[in-house]
Amino acid sequence: MSITKSKVIEVLKSVIYFTKGDNIVNLGMLDELDVSDDKIQFRIVFPRLNVPAVDIVVKSATKALREKFGEQITINITPIPEKEKGRGPLAGVRHIIAVASGKGGVGKSTVAANLAVALARTGSQVGLVDADIYGPSIPMMFGVIDEAPGVIEREGKPLIVPLEKHGIRLLSIGFFVDTDKPLVWRGPMATSALNQLLSDADWGVLDYLIIDLPPGTGDIQLTLAQSYSVTGAVVVTTPQKLAFADVRRAATMFRQDKITIPLLGLIENMAYFSPSDMPDKKYYIFGKGHGEGFANALDIPLLGQIPIVEQISVAGDNGSPIALDEDSMIANAFIEVAQKVKTMVKESSK
Ligand SMILES: Nc1ncnc2c1ncn2[C@@H]1O[C@H](COP(=O)(O)OP(=O)(O)OP(=O)(O)O)[C@@H](O)[C@H]1O
Ligand SMILES: [Mg+2]
Repeated sequence: MSITKSKVIEVLKSVIYFTKGDNIVNLGMLDELDVSDDKIQFRIVFPRLNVPAVDIVVKSATKALREKFGEQITINITPIPEKEKGRGPLAGVRHIIAVASGKGGVGKSTVAANLAVALARTGSQVGLVDADIYGPSIPMMFGVIDEAPGVIEREGKPLIVPLEKHGIRLLSIGFFVDTDKPLVWRGPMATSALNQLLSDADWGVLDYLIIDLPPGTGDIQLTLAQSYSVTGAVVVTTPQKLAFADVRRAATMFRQDKITIPLLGLIENMAYFSPSDMPDKKYYIFGKGHGEGFANALDIPLLGQIPIVEQISVAGDNGSPIALDEDSMIANAFIEVAQKVKTMVKESSK
């Protein structure tokens, strides 16, 4: 049987990339297909390479082609990362940074919002994705609850245009669902929501895209780790010893074989209490040095300690993260964290 490009494409439509729930042809992953009498050669463009899915897809493509065209043909498949191809809505994004925690309510969203603002204040182009589909809070923290992002069309494909507030490009699942009505998300829905926020949006050129993750180690974390090229994760904890078990679980997840996301460091939130009339006083109400101890136990740097202060919470509720304040000590604490994150990103990209 003579081998033609269209026959090869037909066969490759049977090869499913399960992470995105469609075949590699429909997903536009096929690249530089070249066929001759006895040879088929092409590249497959993956969001990232160091995941088991790559091997599975390459093997099943090889098997399907051999079944159709025979054992004697030469098949040459090269997986390449999306970045190398310079394509995809994330092609202009230099670093994706996840803000994670095993535990709910430790201040992930507060840290993500303020880290985004602090990075922008130190001269970077920043985007922020609220991937907490179970309890999106970024719209409130940026005062854009009633706004909706626009849509543009590029190369026949609709793309969501992130909102821009305080110099940060923002997207949240909260813009698309009624957050008053509790949603029961099944795994594939959660995955597809994350893919839409990341891959179906017009992110443009960014130095950092910060991702505010839901608590725990569920589908969202797994999809992010397996389908996207994440530079690193920042883990948020509070000083309570009880929080550490959860922090360790989150850290362990990112360190699992094949889904490795480098841990950039730990942020100890609510590390101490400072009364607003005595900002120089520090009361270590949950104990002192715990963040340091957790960071040492995980063998990662402690990127910063953020106090419990009412203004952090008030600023979050009012739609302007505290890191926007020109000369507040807390804003400076976040700027210091941002600078350390930048240093760690440089180290981990070496
Ligand atoms: N350092 C702080 N000082 C005072 N209040 C804080 C601080 N950090 C967070 N908060 C407040 O604690 C609450 C929980 O914070 P946040 O929503 O950031 O946590 P989270 O880890 O994202 O929670 P969830 O798991 O629900 O997503 C918010 O009301 C926030 O304003
Ligand atoms: Mg949150």
